Amino acid sequence: MITNANWISAPVDTGAVCPIFSKRIKTEKTVKKAEISISATGVYEAEINGRRIGDFILAPGCTSYKSRLQYQMYDVTNMLETENTLSICLGKGWYRGRISASDKTINETDGAVIAELVITYTDGSTESIVTDNSWSVTTSRILFSDIYDGETYDATAEIKDLGNAVINDSISKSTLIPQEGETVKEHERIKPVKIFITPKGEYVIDFGQNIAGYVSLDLTSKSGDKIVISHAEVLDNDGNFYNANYRSAKARIEYTCRDGHQVYTPHFTYFGFRYIRLDERPYNIMPDNLTAVAVYSDMKRTGYIETGSEKVNKLFENTLWSQRDNFIDIPTDCPQRDERMGWLGDAQVFAKTASYNYNTKKFFGKWLGDLRAEQRENGSVPDTVPNFWLIPRSSTAWGDAMSVIPWQMYLMYGDKKDIEHNFDAMKRWVDFMTSDSLDKYLWTCVDDSDKKQRKHYGDWLALDAPYGSYRGITPDNFIASAFYAYSTEILIKAGKAIEKDMSEYEELYKNIVSAFQKTFTEYTTQTECVLALYFNLADNKPETAKQLNDMIIANDNRLQTGFVGTPYLLYALSENGYAQTAYSLLLQEEYPSWLYEVNHGATTIWEHWDGIRDDGTFWSTDMNSYNHYAYGSVVDWLYSVAGGIKPVEENAGFKEAVIAPVPDKRLGSINVSLDTEYGTIKSAWHYEGDKVCYEITTSVKATIIINGEKHLVVSGTYYF
Ligand code: BGC
Repeated sequence: MITNANWISAPVDTGAVCPIFSKRIKTEKTVKKAEISISATGVYEAEINGRRIGDFILAPGCTSYKSRLQYQMYDVTNMLETENTLSICLGKGWYRGRISASDKTINETDGAVIAELVITYTDGSTESIVTDNSWSVTTSRILFSDIYDGETYDATAEIKDLGNAVINDSISKSTLIPQEGETVKEHERIKPVKIFITPKGEYVIDFGQNIAGYVSLDLTSKSGDKIVISHAEVLDNDGNFYNANYRSAKARIEYTCRDGHQVYTPHFTYFGFRYIRLDERPYNIMPDNLTAVAVYSDMKRTGYIETGSEKVNKLFENTLWSQRDNFIDIPTDCPQRDERMGWLGDAQVFAKTASYNYNTKKFFGKWLGDLRAEQRENGSVPDTVPNFWLIPRSSTAWGDAMSVIPWQMYLMYGDKKDIEHNFDAMKRWVDFMTSDSLDKYLWTCVDDSDKKQRKHYGDWLALDAPYGSYRGITPDNFIASAFYAYSTEILIKAGKAIEKDMSEYEELYKNIVSAFQKTFTEYTTQTECVLALYFNLADNKPETAKQLNDMIIANDNRLQTGFVGTPYLLYALSENGYAQTAYSLLLQEEYPSWLYEVNHGATTIWEHWDGIRDDGTFWSTDMNSYNHYAYGSVVDWLYSVAGGIKPVEENAGFKEAVIAPVPDKRLGSINVSLDTEYGTIKSAWHYEGDKVCYEITTSVKATIIINGEKHLVVSGTYYF
């Protein structure tokens, strides 16, 4: 708890240098318990007697700072001695770094820390040590640090006393909240797999996996030796180091050594990378001196998939990595370029896959708090949360994160609070669409006529886009009206789950469906068919499904869909009698396809289907991430259709399950396992000749559906 502490700042502007705030503390009695709460307008690392407190990387995390700033509480009972130095080093982080430069009300806040240490002694007395003007301030050896640009650390830099801290009343304490999200931690530690000199003569190290995190150095060196590191995700066509796709993000580490053995791990920055280039290095640096460390929110893994196809297995692995790399306290689009934003559309399409792979209840629960905090008076929500770029608009499929994600949390984890907390905001989102439309019961606009409150992204990055455009040709009004229906349908189901009277919205939903069917009588793109089928809007589903199937086959079993159509494409086929075509798309290896990326050496999911073209050239540098999870959303189809494990809406959270696997000989086999609140569910099948053999184990009540036949089971292992 932070009740009595003050925000404190350095007495002088330290510029790019990270200041350290310290306090000497004496404990003359025996300590029974000691707890410290800390927060900062930036990111902090705290120590007692030189030992790091806790393991939260980039604490206090990323939130919508105008209304919510987390503090962490740490048990430090075992860290205190009689004489102690408590210190807090402050970096700029998201709060005051380049990432939030557009929002001056946040970005220009003074750098400040706040902390309260409460010590309970064995005699029952307590003492509280708070940040105030008795704390001293010094410089640190972190001379520069920024999330986009990297860090400069000089291990020889002199530490200068700056005097006492000043109490800073300009920063509010009312926004402080206890940590809601998962702790962001260091995870996998990866050693170099290859060191080589590129054709350009550069010294490059390959860690074999695209990660988000940083490289930790452990070496013996002499004072003044310099190590300069640049980061990259891919090599270019000639095998040279390539990071033009990071755009303006410098993503660089500059480390100056001191004499002797030393370990340096960057403090207040992270990178998306697989390769590093050593731009400067001491002659004796060896692979063993370098370790890539993956950093992400500490979610519990729940989902596992193994299939008969090594390539599909790799696709699954790549999706897991893109999730880890982009779940650093908020769901980001990408971890490498000058963006790393909580884009709602990306999170919306990936939330289902994410919540099978890992338990995301706490992660999304916290981010939904930010989403609600950013919702505007008129019910619209910004395209990114936190809205560091001050995007003034709302967009279809992006804003629908407001309804889709709480509902997905409820389906997976069965906690009605996830609906209760968000219900009002979900309703206001639907009401916003109602109020913003040109036509009643649709969400329509004259394209871009009113950039003030709405601008759609269309079927972002779809391949039916005109050359040079990012937007597929499916019309905005079609997509927006389809998502209006979808969100309204979700709102009704969510409302009913918490026993609300939803009759008004049921009436609205009926009218939306009928207006949609009257207005959009013909479908011309794959995405139009997909949305009409998956959102139950097509008035003749068999005909639309056949049209979609024909379109895919006529296109040589290749998709053309973007962010909007892709997540539901395989469902639209498999749920309407065309599972075989869904599998053909899944197993397609030619461009554009999921396995095309795998064949081109991907270790994460690419933003563009053609991130690397067949001839080895790249999609343009301005929008080309190799770590964008959106298309990884195909993985929830593997869990819930190929493996067939689905929650039951009326008994959400897997209190009850449906297990209805859909096999295909070309995949050979699948083995899916999901840990739920009520126990583990496993669904496996393999082929023996033309015969499919199923093995299903459930510890929850389930309806197993095999060849259309239903088997009601309580728990146990079943063979078919
Ligand atoms: C991001 C996307 C995002 C989009 C909005 C891009 O810059 O990387 O993933 O959803 O903008 O269209």
